[in-house]
Amino acid sequence: ADPSPLQDFCVADLDSSLYINGFPCKNPDNVSSQDFFANGFQQSPGEFNIFDVNVTRQDVHRFPGLNTLGLSMNRVVLKPGGLNAPHVHPLASELALVMDGKIFVGWVTTGNVFYWKILTSGELFVIPPGLVHFQLNIGHENARFFASFNSQNPGIQFAPLALFNSTPSIPDLVLSKAFQVNQSIIELIKSRFATVS
Ligand code: GLV
Ligand code: MN
Repeated sequence: ADPSPLQDFCVADLDSSLYINGFPCKNPDNVSSQDFFANGFQQSPGEFNIFDVNVTRQDVHRFPGLNTLGLSMNRVVLKPGGLNAPHVHPLASELALVMDGKIFVGWVTTGNVFYWKILTSGELFVIPPGLVHFQLNIGHENARFFASFNSQNPGIQFAPLALFNSTPSIPDLVLSKAFQVNQSIIELIKSRFATVS
């Protein structure tokens, strides 16, 4: 969860050269109605990633009016079989509403207990902050949900990419020991992500 605001609003000045926690406020004289609206979800999803998922973010970087308000939202579209791969949001809890399709949602506690459910249209799920979670489309049509976060900038770290596609690469020796397999298997997994930017 983000810190509380100290004023009505602080529309982000994304072009400022000041580096602070969050973004500096735009001069209120230059703030207009437009700063408090965003239409990113009117656009149809662009490219799908290697996991067959498209995530449209409406966080502070795309919606400057969210700055200091501790809120943001994503739209997630998954092709049939698409997996929003295991990931964490280091800075936020997630509350999501399923709009279309049939989604297998799961998350794991710090004690490694796995909670899961299969959800359809109209159902909600919540993911506590910082825990590993995923969504898999197990239906035959595209699935879609909207996720809200208690942060203007939830952050997202995908476990497979963090471990197998970092720059520079984590040494095979480390991953080999971590996953209890030999290094050729680690090399094989890394090669699968070689084209991901
Ligand atoms: C879904 O879990 C998302 O973070 O958008
Ligand atoms: Mn998430």
